[in-house]
Amino acid sequence: MSNQSGNKSAKKLRVDKILSHLGIATRSESKKLVKQGRVIVDGNPIKDSGLQVDPEASTIEVDGQSVRYREFVYLLLNKPQGVVSATEDKWDRTVVDLLDAEYVAFEPFPVGRLDKDTEGLLLLTNDGQLAHELLSPRKHVPKTYEAKVLGAVDETDGEAFKAGVTLDDGYETMPAELEIVRHFEEEGEAHTDIRLTIMEGKFHQVKRMFEAVGKKVVFLKRISMGPLQLDPALSLGEYRELTSEELDALRNR
Ligand code: URA
Repeated sequence: MSNQSGNKSAKKLRVDKILSHLGIATRSESKKLVKQGRVIVDGNPIKDSGLQVDPEASTIEVDGQSVRYREFVYLLLNKPQGVVSATEDKWDRTVVDLLDAEYVAFEPFPVGRLDKDTEGLLLLTNDGQLAHELLSPRKHVPKTYEAKVLGAVDETDGEAFKAGVTLDDGYETMPAELEIVRHFEEEGEAHTDIRLTIMEGKFHQVKRMFEAVGKKVVFLKRISMGPLQLDPALSLGEYRELTSEELDALRNR
């Protein structure tokens, strides 16, 4: 369907296809809108909803509102707990359920997964190529997490993570960077707030790394992925489109 992600192409598309891709009208609704003279291309009402136009070069208006065409959408979500990183699920709400219809029309999917009880930065897009590049194990995209850990995390754990630990399935992790933020007691038990940067994304990786050193993650939040940072202006469940700077940084990383 797509050209290379990020390449601007002088590609012509049917007007009804453009409107349906953006979730503005189905093909049959487009036909009606066109018949009623409500679809204007480059200043003139069109007569055929199958008219081919270059959406990047032409202006399109429906009912006087200009239509901003783009093939891909890139959303930065502050994922709350209790929703799953999937596009559909039998039992649970998904991250896509948090999006407005105008974005759902693009059929975005989460780039990687956060556990149901993990919060924080999650990228959603319909740009399969960019997603593939970010998820490729060969690309080693760094991901930083903040966690509250049950147990007194110390420098020995930091050394172990730097060297790589063995997970419950025998997998040896790549070197990871641990930062101890603070030690505290809660209900008489030692806890530690930490930051951990990992270069891979195995299933439940952060939780399993702490299990490997005899500790338990009780709260987990992702704060960065590659050049993307969690936006403090986004409350849990809120999202926004990536800025062009963020998108360029992702593509050029
Ligand atoms: N590691 C985990 O254990 N869970 C997540 O959601 C992400 C990383």
